[in-house]
Amino acid sequence: MNSHLPIGIFDSGVGGLTVYRALHEHLPNEHFVYLGDTARVPYGTKSLATVERYAVENARFLAAHGIKLLVVACNTASALALPAIRSELNIDVVGVIGPGARAAVKTQRAGRARTQAIGVVATESTVQSGAYTAAIKKADANATVVERACPLFVPLAEEGWTDNDVVRMIAETYLQDVRASIDTLVLGCTHYPILREVIQQTVGDSVQLIDSGEATAVEVKSLLKEKDLARLTMPTGALERQLCDDLDHFYVTDAAERFSRVAERFLGSKPSRLEAVEIWGEDRLRA
Ligand code: DGL
Repeated sequence: MNSHLPIGIFDSGVGGLTVYRALHEHLPNEHFVYLGDTARVPYGTKSLATVERYAVENARFLAAHGIKLLVVACNTASALALPAIRSELNIDVVGVIGPGARAAVKTQRAGRARTQAIGVVATESTVQSGAYTAAIKKADANATVVERACPLFVPLAEEGWTDNDVVRMIAETYLQDVRASIDTLVLGCTHYPILREVIQQTVGDSVQLIDSGEATAVEVKSLLKEKDLARLTMPTGALERQLCDDLDHFYVTDAAERFSRVAERFLGSKPSRLEAVEIWGEDRLRA
């Protein structure tokens, strides 16, 4: 495995760019291939079988591009489809649930004496799966967890409604009955870091927010080091330059123009190289 190969990232759409941004910040030498499954978003309301199928198709597409590691940026796909993806690929696959859960337990332990619960906000399917509760309890068997589905946060983030009365009212409605019982809150959906400020204002400053994407970037950095896969130098030889041309590549399965527009809101600039692709046609023909 060559350390100059890119890291693959997929999400159900544009939200995974918050995870891409964190990875990019923590790993400035690495380069990335991102797939947003914009034709089939949202995953957060879909069943296990459907999310598994989509996730495996996305993973196969990225694996075919020659990646050294796959990051499943989508919380819903991480909650429902990691075993299915891992059984398909012979590279390391990192989801966002485990890192988010471990960071929450670590933060809670480092803070006040634990008398309160860890809150998790996520999509309906992630909450229904119980994946965050299981991962938090794996890291700390005595932890108490409260999960809340906040589906309306996704369109609000995409629309750029991050600071107005509508988003404040929706955040209040979702979080008013949990805030008194939590001291830590995991942002368990790709879009929620975009609404970080309003969520913090709603739950109050005493609650520590955990960004799962950020926690994932920290763990990916250690994993690459441990596996001797970190790209420490810029490419020098012809082969290395071929493996890595340094411009991150973005693929979407539909509506590239909209992705580009929303991406600008999430990243601060439009994605460099963006291409629309169809990733499931071959499988359909074979079926
Ligand atoms: N990317 C999804 C997640 O993090 C949110 C959007 C969707 O429902 O597909 O769970």
